Amino acid sequence: MPAKRLVVLISGSGSNLQALIDNSGKNKDYEVVGVISNRPNVKGLKRAAMANISHSTLDHTLYTSREAFDTELLNLVESYKPDIVALAGFMRILTPVFVTPLQGKMLNIHPSLLPKYAGLNTHQRAIDANDSIAGCTVHFVTEALDGGPPVIQASVSIESDETAQSLADKVLISEHKIFTIAINWLAQGRLKLNGNNASLDNKILQLSGYQLNH
Ligand code: GRF
Repeated sequence: MPAKRLVVLISGSGSNLQALIDNSGKNKDYEVVGVISNRPNVKGLKRAAMANISHSTLDHTLYTSREAFDTELLNLVESYKPDIVALAGFMRILTPVFVTPLQGKMLNIHPSLLPKYAGLNTHQRAIDANDSIAGCTVHFVTEALDGGPPVIQASVSIESDETAQSLADKVLISEHKIFTIAINWLAQGRLKLNGNNASLDNKILQLSGYQLNH
């Protein structure tokens, strides 16, 4: 079975991209064939260059509307003939123009235990709420912001002296783990989107997805 073709969208440091690149060499279920950033000169583009992976910038500030950007982004993504698309620290809200054609083959990593803390500043919000745990979620991308069906989650403890930065650093390690697991599942044909449910090996996943830590 040829390796599935993975396109990764980034906006910044690309540590999740790096985890996906490093993992692809191990089992050959997928290969990263393209990297696209909506912001120029970010570290993630250097990571792609170091790995000899085709990469480009599509600067969203050059477009007059979300739909215009999303149309261009879809054309660029589809030029790679992807089997899978990964949103890896990609900080743009995407419209149905982009999401609908890719539904079922696109996953996002979000730094909270969804459905808690959709949106931004997830770690500070968890600390401010005196939560005892935080974590991350990989979910299918649907038209609902951070709202697609969860695939897998990992949780970490929030310590009494935790800061948003220390929590982000801890959660990021878990993000790398669960994103590579989820992309492998999709590449192996084990993970599917059925309507608004995710299934693994033909079993509907629980509402919050597979729980890695338990
Ligand atoms: C990660 O916490 C990711 O969840 C968030 O952006 C952060 C940096 O991701 N969306 P990366 O290092 O660019 O992969």
